[in-house]
Amino acid sequence: MRRSTPDKADPAFLDEKTARKQAERQILLDALSGRLEAEAIEWTAGTAIPPEMLASPRIRLRQWNEADCAPFAALNADPVVMEHFPATLTRGQSDATVERLRASIDRQGWGFWAADDLTGGEPRFAGFVGINIPQADLPFQPCVEVGWRLARPFWGKGLASEGARLSLRVGFELLGLEEIVAMTQLRNVRSRAVMERLGMQEAVGEEFEHPAVPVGSHARAMCLYRLKRPVGS
Ligand SMILES: CC(C)(COP(=O)(O)OP(=O)(O)OC[C@H]1O[C@@H](n2cnc3c(N)ncnc32)[C@H](O)[C@@H]1OP(=O)(O)O)[C@@H](O)C(=O)NCCC(=O)NCCS
Repeated sequence: MRRSTPDKADPAFLDEKTARKQAERQILLDALSGRLEAEAIEWTAGTAIPPEMLASPRIRLRQWNEADCAPFAALNADPVVMEHFPATLTRGQSDATVERLRASIDRQGWGFWAADDLTGGEPRFAGFVGINIPQADLPFQPCVEVGWRLARPFWGKGLASEGARLSLRVGFELLGLEEIVAMTQLRNVRSRAVMERLGMQEAVGEEFEHPAVPVGSHARAMCLYRLKRPVGS
C-alpha cells in the first residue's frame, strides 16, 4: 500500500525528522573531522559546552534569548552593518534568524552564538560570533565556518576576533574538526581583516558566487579563507 504523506503537524513526524537531521549532522561531522568512527568525535550533541570555553574577560558567547531580538533587529536594519549583504532585514526576517540560530544551538550545542560585550559594567548584547554549518549549497562543502556580525558601537574593540578565537577552540579542541573556513563578500575589508588576524589563509582561486544571493547583487562575489587545525590541539 502506498504510504500517505506525513502530517507535518504530527509530533511523531517531527521527532522522526529531528532524529534524521541529527543523524545526518553527525555523519557530516565525522567526515569533517576526517574520521570514520562516530565515537571518534570527542563531543556529542546534547553535551553542554563548558561556559569557560565560551567566555574571555571581554566577550561572552551564549544561547539567544527573547531580549536579543530588538537589538539584533536594529543592527540588521543598519545599512552600514549590512553593506556587504544583499539587503537589510525586516523585524520579521531578523526574528526568524534568531529562531533559526537558537534552534541550531539547541540541536547541536554550538552555532552562531549571541555575543555580549563585557568591557563595560553590565554585559551588552553586541551581535553574534560563532561556528556554523552553512545551509547554502557551496562548492567547498562539507565545512564548518566561523562568522561574525556586530552592531557598529562594538566595532574597533577586537571583540569579533576575540569571540572568533573562542569559537575556533571549540571547533578544533571540542569537535575535533580538521579545518574551519570563513567566507565573505570580496570587498568586505573589515571581515577579511578579522580572518587575517585569526591566521586564516585566503584560498586564492576559490572565489565563488554565493548561490543564495540573487544574480546581479553586489553581495554575490565571495572569497574563502581556510584554517587548518593547529598542530597539537
Ligand atoms: C566584520 C566585523 C565583525 C569586524 O569587526 P572589528 O571590530 O573591525 O574586528 P575585530 O574584532 O577584529 O577588531 C579589530 C579592531 O579593534 C581594534 N582594537 C581595539 N582594542 C582592541 C583590543 N583590546 N584587542 C584587539 N583589537 C582591538 C583593532 O585595532 C582593530 O581596529 P581597526 O579596525 O581600526 O584596525 C564588523 O565590522 C561587522 O560586524 N561588520 C558587519 C557585518 C559583517 O560584515 N559581517 C561579516 C560578514 S562575512
